[in-house]
Amino acid sequence: MAGNIKLHVEDLTISFKTTQGLVRAVRGVSFDLHEGETLAIVGESGSGKSVTSRTIMGILAGNGIIDDGKIIYEGEDLTKVDEDHFHEIRGNKIGMIFQDPMSSLNPIMKIGKQVTEGMILNGKHLENRYKALFHEAKTTLNRLHREKKSLKVELRANLKAIKTGDSSADGMVLKEECNAALAKVKIAIPAAKKRLVVDKKAAKVAIDLEWKNEQERVTKLVSDVKAKLADSDGEAKQAYVDEIDMLQENLKRFKKVTKRQATERAIEIMDEVGIPDPVRRLNQYPFQFSGGMRQRIVIAIALTASPDVLICDEPTTALDVTIQSQILELINDLKRERNLSVIFITHDLGVVANMADRIGVMYAGKLVELGTAEDVFYNPVHPYTWALLSSMPDLESKERLTAIPGTPPNMLFPPVGDAFADRNSYAMAIDFKEQPPMFKVSETHSAATWLLHPDAPKVEMPEVIRKRIDRMTKNTSEVSK
Ligand SMILES: Nc1ncnc2c1ncn2[C@@H]1O[C@H](COP(=O)(O)OP(=O)(O)OP(=O)(O)O)[C@@H](O)[C@H]1O
Ligand SMILES: [Mg+2]
Repeated sequence: MAGNIKLHVEDLTISFKTTQGLVRAVRGVSFDLHEGETLAIVGESGSGKSVTSRTIMGILAGNGIIDDGKIIYEGEDLTKVDEDHFHEIRGNKIGMIFQDPMSSLNPIMKIGKQVTEGMILNGKHLENRYKALFHEAKTTLNRLHREKKSLKVELRANLKAIKTGDSSADGMVLKEECNAALAKVKIAIPAAKKRLVVDKKAAKVAIDLEWKNEQERVTKLVSDVKAKLADSDGEAKQAYVDEIDMLQENLKRFKKVTKRQATERAIEIMDEVGIPDPVRRLNQYPFQFSGGMRQRIVIAIALTASPDVLICDEPTTALDVTIQSQILELINDLKRERNLSVIFITHDLGVVANMADRIGVMYAGKLVELGTAEDVFYNPVHPYTWALLSSMPDLESKERLTAIPGTPPNMLFPPVGDAFADRNSYAMAIDFKEQPPMFKVSETHSAATWLLHPDAPKVEMPEVIRKRIDRMTKNTSEVSK
C-alpha cells in the first residue's frame, strides 16, 4: 500500500467565528494520504470531517480561520498559496464530490454544459496565461479612456454653466481644472497604448516559449513511455498505449479546448462512470436523472479535470442501499484505473469495510485512532472506536448492539481533557484533566487514549465486540474463499 505521500496534513487547527464565540471545529489533525490508497475518515456528525476536507479543497466557510497547521501537496503548503494558484490546483489536481448531488448541480442547466464547463475554462491554460500577462496594461488603458470620457462630460457641463450665465468664478476654476485633468489623461493615453503593445509582444514571446517547453516536455515523456512500450507485452502494453494517448490529449488541452472536444470528452467520461446513452443524456436536465445517476454525473464532473486526489464527502448517504453499493464500486474502480488517491468521509464504518486501505477515526475535531483497515476493524484500541463498532448494524442479525450513549461535546467549550471522557466507561481521572497524545500501537497504528499509557490499567475490548469482530472475520474469510 504505502506509495509516495500524496498529501501531508499536519496539526491542522480550524475554528469558526460565531456570535456565541469561537467554535473549535478541528483541533490538531495530522495524517498522510499515500498515492493510490483510500483513506477513510469516520466519525459522528459534527466531528470535523467536512471542515477538514473543505479546508484541503480551499473552500472553508467565510467565518472559518486556519489557526495552525500545514497541508502539503506537491511540495507546497496549500494553506499559504494565493487564490490564483489555488484555482489551478483545485481545478486540476484535487477533486471533491459531496453528499447531495442535487446541490452540486445547477438545476436549470443542461447536463452536457455542466460537464463541459470546467474543461473549457481550465483547458484554455495558455490563452488565459497570455491574457493575464497584459491584463494590467489593458485595464490601465481602459481606465484612462473612461476618465477621458467623464472629464469631457464634466467639461461640457461646466462650459454650459458658464455660457448660460449662472456662472461664477468657481465655474471658471472648474473649467480650468477639467482642462488640466483632460490634458494629463490625453498624454497618458498614448503612453498606455504603447505599454500595452509592448506587454502584448512580450506576452506572446513568453507564451510561445511556454508552449514550446510544454511540447518538448511531453515529447520527452512520450518517448520514455514508448521505450517502455517496446519492452512490454499484454496488459502492460495497453497501459502504456493509454498513457501515451492521455499525454497527447493533455497537451492539446494545454493550448485550448474547443466546445466540440469538450463534448467528446464529456461523452467518454460519462460512459466511464456508467451513464447509459450519454449522447442523449447530454441534453437533459438534472431532474431527469435518478439520485444514483446524478451522483455519477457529479463524479464525472470531478473527473473532467483529471484530478489525482479525490475527496468524497459522504457521497452515498442520500442513496438507497443498492445504489449506494454501486457508487462505492464505481469509486473503487476509478481509483484503481486512474490511480487516484481517495479520502472517503463517512459516519458509517460499515460503508468503508470493503474499500478503505486505512481508516482514521475522528472525534470532537481530533483524529483519535488511525491505522490500516485491519488495525481498526480487528484490533481497535480506542474506546470510541469500540463504541462505533458496536453501533454498526450486525451483518447477520442486522441489529445494532448499542447506540453510543451521551452526545459529543459542544465545541464552543472543548473539554480540557479527553473529549470522549464523559461518554467513556473506561475513563480515568487523567482523562478529565489532560488530553492524551497519539500513542503508537504498531508501525501502522496509533491512537489517542490514556489507556495506552504504560502505567494505565490493562483494559481489553468488551467481549461482545470481540465476538462480533470474530464473526466478521469468519464471514469475510468465507467470502474470500
Ligand atoms: N461555518 C460554520 N460556522 C460555525 N461552525 C461551523 C461552521 N461549519 C462547521 N461548523 C462546526 O464545526 C464542527 C465540525 O463540522 P463538520 O461539518 O466538519 O462535521 P462533520 O464531521 O462533517 O459532520 P456531518 O457528519 O454532520 O457532516 C461542527 O461543530 C459544526 O457545527
Ligand atoms: Mg460533514
